[in-house]
Amino acid sequence: MLILRNVSKTFNPGTPDAKQALDQVSLHIHEGDFVSIIGANGAGKSTLFNAISGSFYVDQGSVLLGGQDVTMVPEHQRAKVIGRLFQDPMRGSAPDMSIEENLALAAGNGGWLSRVTAADKKAFRDRLSLLGMGLENRMKQPVGLLSGGQRQALTLLMATYHVPKVLLLDEHTAALDPGTAEKVLNLTRSIVEENRITCLMITHNMQSALDLGNRTLMMDRGRVIYDVTGEERAKLTIRDLTEKFRQASGHSLNNDRMLLGVAGGGEA
Ligand SMILES: Nc1ncnc2c1ncn2[C@@H]1O[C@H](COP(=O)(O)OP(=O)(O)OP(=O)(O)O)[C@@H](O)[C@H]1O
Ligand SMILES: [Mg+2]
Repeated sequence: MLILRNVSKTFNPGTPDAKQALDQVSLHIHEGDFVSIIGANGAGKSTLFNAISGSFYVDQGSVLLGGQDVTMVPEHQRAKVIGRLFQDPMRGSAPDMSIEENLALAAGNGGWLSRVTAADKKAFRDRLSLLGMGLENRMKQPVGLLSGGQRQALTLLMATYHVPKVLLLDEHTAALDPGTAEKVLNLTRSIVEENRITCLMITHNMQSALDLGNRTLMMDRGRVIYDVTGEERAKLTIRDLTEKFRQASGHSLNNDRMLLGVAGGGEA
């Protein structure tokens, strides 16, 4: 479904600020995989997503999506089949437009309510009600009025309105309070499972990384240093993950937000 072959990316090449953010990353994500991705700050996790979504062209290697080589396909074209959520709930929906206009945008009728049929509206209402946040009764309100959690839930709905080939979640619950984060994570789980969406989720919370999905990747210094699935993953604890990180990377997770996950606190 999603294949990366020897993908490398260096920012500011040839300057004193040169930074190799991806170092020969090869990955094969299967259809229906739900992959959690962990790693210290600056490990290259968001850069990996940027390489997949086409925010830049990679220096080396290739990206294949659904059997098509998209290495040189521009970001706006890949966006048609890639859903993406960021940490910031303000990204991903238009604050001055109403909930139904935003959904019309996601549904593909350009956000023009004149093109939205009664059947579309019913579909919007039905899908909103699945969020369990009462948004189905606020369809005419501007999105800017919503709380961060409501907005992130709406963005999730929009990003999956038409099932994407791959859904990229970049710490999408990190800015939410723990209770709201859990709610949005549960929604994520149910939407991804029901629609059998191929999904990659970056998180600093190791418990979420183990709880959700069927596969976990650990990144360090632009490389994937651990890739686990099946029985081995089912038996893993947070302590094991921390130990794996120490072994594989040669340094500990001191001073990193991942440590928050170890302590049981922190964001989801
Ligand atoms: N556009 C850019 N220009 C220059 N350097 C960049 C750029 N984007 C990322 N980097 C650098 O590449 C490295 C990897 O960054 P990236 O954002 O992928 O890390 P991350 O694993 O997502 O970290 P975090 O957990 O903090 O979000 C970092 O050293 C970062 O400073
Ligand atoms: Mg990041």
